[in-house]
Amino acid sequence: MADSLEFTRKEFPFLRREIDGRPIVYLDSASTSPKPQCVIDTVNGVYQHTAANVHRGIHTVADEATEAYENARREVAKFLNASPSEIIFTRNATEGINIVANGLGLMPDDEVVLTPAEHHSNYLPWRLRARIVPVGLSTDGFPIYADVQKVISLHTKIITLAHISNTTGIIAPVEHWVEAAHSRGLPVLIDAAQSASHIPLDVRALDCDFLVLSGHKLLGPSGIGVLYGKRERLAKLSLYQTGGGMVRYHSEDRFEVQDVPQRFEAGTPNIEGAIGLGTAVKWLRSLGMERIMAHSKSLGRQLVHGLETIPGIHIIAASAPLESRIGLVTFNLKVPGFSQDALARLLCDRYQILVSGGFHCAHILHHRLGFEGTVRISTHVFTTHEEIDKVLSALHELTDTYCR
Ligand SMILES: Cc1ncc(COP(=O)(O)O)c(C=O)c1O
Repeated sequence: MADSLEFTRKEFPFLRREIDGRPIVYLDSASTSPKPQCVIDTVNGVYQHTAANVHRGIHTVADEATEAYENARREVAKFLNASPSEIIFTRNATEGINIVANGLGLMPDDEVVLTPAEHHSNYLPWRLRARIVPVGLSTDGFPIYADVQKVISLHTKIITLAHISNTTGIIAPVEHWVEAAHSRGLPVLIDAAQSASHIPLDVRALDCDFLVLSGHKLLGPSGIGVLYGKRERLAKLSLYQTGGGMVRYHSEDRFEVQDVPQRFEAGTPNIEGAIGLGTAVKWLRSLGMERIMAHSKSLGRQLVHGLETIPGIHIIAASAPLESRIGLVTFNLKVPGFSQDALARLLCDRYQILVSGGFHCAHILHHRLGFEGTVRISTHVFTTHEEIDKVLSALHELTDTYCR
């Protein structure tokens, strides 16, 4: 089958790795992604040529570091169609959600509307501070997004959802949720940790109030993430952390904090991480996010069609429309004597195919469905149709061997 993004494979040194002398098939990008050479070179370049903090130094190298860091912010802003002043560098998506959950001043009787398919990172920060009100779930694990209007109440303070769940792999109708929230004057936070790698993002068109993502899933370094927020929303959040870099003036009687985004970037940031992320999103934009989405959807279709032919398989959110599915599919496959973790391990040990096994930080969804775990296959720009054929044929071989 033709694969228009196969040429990108040569950019990823990690894809040349072998296990037990055999080449790997990497189908675990929803956990974290390999890095293209341009990102590796960028991060190496920072270490080779720079030793300076940002927004603090006076010398030439410090100016260069600040310029490179702020240039990365501009690249991320372009990637999201935001203004650079709306981009806060965080450690990861989790930290972005925590900044908002902390900053809204939630009280125990306040309500947060979300879906039961949320990642722990978009569930626990809210649960700690307010009452969780999830929309319903279909019997196969597809959130009933249309219920959002019904569950918003006078106590609701924010509504939030994964743009693409890391377990269902389905593009959520976020526009509908934004409309529902805004009709009641409520803010919306979109968790784009998964969607950022697979579909175009445009915060202006989405009109979301907050959006978070993680660099490490987006071909960038670990320990760097992004919180996007509308300026007026960010300005109203209470402080999350305090320290150097976020303060403009500090005397014994008072202190004055910086404007956003610096206001939320206390302490020395992950400078090389941010600069590496800037390179990653620039590279993705050069490939074209529409093209990446088409590729991802075509891998998703191939996966679902192939998995459906395996007897006894339960695909999560199987009833969801195929056109809203990306190259990320999770399933429960009963193979006597094997937990879902053990199945994932077997795919690695016997076939060098790397996938995820377990709960994927979505315990609530798994509890609701009564599954003691699932296996997740997830793709990225470099994944080929041949690789999907390989995992499908391995799964057929395993069920033929152990399910007779
Ligand atoms: C949908 C979703 N949200 C949030 C997160 C948390 O990302 P991080 O651990 O990088 O903060 C993940 C990570 O898997 C995710 O898939």
